[in-house]
Order: sequence, then C-alpha cells, then structure tokens
Amino acid sequence: MSTPAPVSLSATARKKVTTLTLRQKKERGEIITMLTAYDYPTAMAMDKAGVDAILVGDSLAMVVLGYENTLPVTMEEMLHHSRAVARGAKTSLLVGDMPFMSYQVSVEEATRNAGRFLQQGGMDAVKLEGGRERADAVRSITSAGIPVMGHIGLTPQSINQLGGFRAQGKTTIAAKRLVEDALILEEAGAFSIVLESVPARLAELISKKISIRTIGIGAGVGCDGQVLVTHDVLGLFDRFTPKFVKKYANFHNEMQKAFADYIEDVETKRFPAQEHTVEIDDKEWEGLMSELN
Ligand code: KIV
Repeated sequence: MSTPAPVSLSATARKKVTTLTLRQKKERGEIITMLTAYDYPTAMAMDKAGVDAILVGDSLAMVVLGYENTLPVTMEEMLHHSRAVARGAKTSLLVGDMPFMSYQVSVEEATRNAGRFLQQGGMDAVKLEGGRERADAVRSITSAGIPVMGHIGLTPQSINQLGGFRAQGKTTIAAKRLVEDALILEEAGAFSIVLESVPARLAELISKKISIRTIGIGAGVGCDGQVLVTHDVLGLFDRFTPKFVKKYANFHNEMQKAFADYIEDVETKRFPAQEHTVEIDDKEWEGLMSELN
C-alpha cells in the first residue's frame, strides 16, 4: 500500500481562503504562499497541501504549451485551464492571470474579460501586469466587484519593451518608479501586487510602504508572500531555470525514466503481467471453443 501524502496542518478542514484571509495574514505578520497550477490533479494536490493561493498563470504558454514566451496564450486557453484548476482546488484563493491583449486595449474590454475569469473560469480574482498605465483598468475591474492582483517589476508580457527577461528596479529612477507604481495600484483598489525580479531591499521597502499584500518572485524574503511557477518547483520545465527558483523535485528526469522503463517492459513482455490481465473461466472458454468448432 502506498504511504499517504503529508497534509499541511493549515489544510486540514480549512476554510475557503479569500482576499480577507490574505489581508488578515499580513496584519498578523504571517507569510502568504502561492503557486501556479494549470490542471486538475496539480491543483488538487496543492490545495490539499494547504497553499493559500493558486495562480493560473499565463506562464501556461511556456511551461505547458511550449511557446517561447507568454504572449501567444489566449483568453480561451486561460479559461479552459482555469476551469480545470477550479474543479481540483476547493479552498485556495484562485487567481486567473489575464493574458496579453485581454486588458490593454480598453478599460471596458479589461473589465469584461476579468468578469469572464469569474463567470466562466471559476476564479475568485484576476491578475494583470503593469503599474500606473493600468490604474484605470484596476479601478474599473474592482468597481465591478472583482478583486485584482497587480504585477510589477519584470512583467513578462512586456519583454519586447524591457529587452528580455531582466531584473528591474536596479537604478534609483527605476526603483522610485516601482515604489510609485505600487502606491498607485494600491490606491486604484488592487488587493495584492506581485513583485517579480526586483532587488530584495526594494521589495521589502514596497512591502512596508503599502498595506496591501506583496507576493514576491525573485524579490527576496521581505515580501508578504512568495510565488513560484510550479513547473520550475517540480523540475518539470527543462528549458531553463531562473536563478530565483528553488527546485523541490526533478520530475522531468523521473518522467523520462518512467517512460523508458515502460517501453522496456512492453518490448520485453514484462508488461502486462498476470495481475494486469483479465481472465475468462475455463468453463466459459471451453464453451467458446466448442461454439467455434
Ligand atoms: O504567469 C505566471 O506564472 C506569473 C508568475 C510568475 C507570478 O505571472
């Protein structure tokens, strides 16, 4: 019999996590945990482990769909994966990542698409990238009753403008701009902000300056919470691993080994064995033989 998986104490019979839960965690000085998920079994395992929030990230484009960057993923694809995650996770706060061009064209379109994540995707909140330039969209979406998580620093949907996947906020001017962006997003009504690839001292400063929750990725230990892309955490994504990732497993190698073992078993007829095989009664078999003769 297989050993049951460890379940975090915080996950045993826990209540649904809401934006209020996250606010209370910051007030109590407790750290918020977030991971990305794109499918039902992963979301279910994560939810049972007790993660506070699950992000259906547009990193889906790279780590699941195999694109070079996050730009090609569509609303329909994001909703499809959001629904799978929502079926698997019943207590974590679910955040749907708004894909490139689903919120940049107009505030109306941004609000309508944000609504689709709740109505059609089963999400509790949405995330979008950008600072001051997204303040109107954040205001409009939150006024529709939809919680918004901001995302500043390295914003992968703008890699063409940023010149690649590079750390941000490393000069006085750039750092000051990020502090201002965080304050603007807070004022616009965001409940939380992802800080990606920014200096740890800057992330800590922002986390102290704003009352909403900061979730860091490559932003040091001074944030109110941490997020990582699950395929990096599990070693499922083999193309590259950012410096800020801690790998907790190497499932890509494990998968490759399992597939190679399966191929060998099939080719050498070690699989299927007796225990994987359906039998027919001798009497029934003899009946068939005499029917056929
Ligand atoms: O899409 C994503 O996975 C993200 C995280 C890196 C925060 O935006």
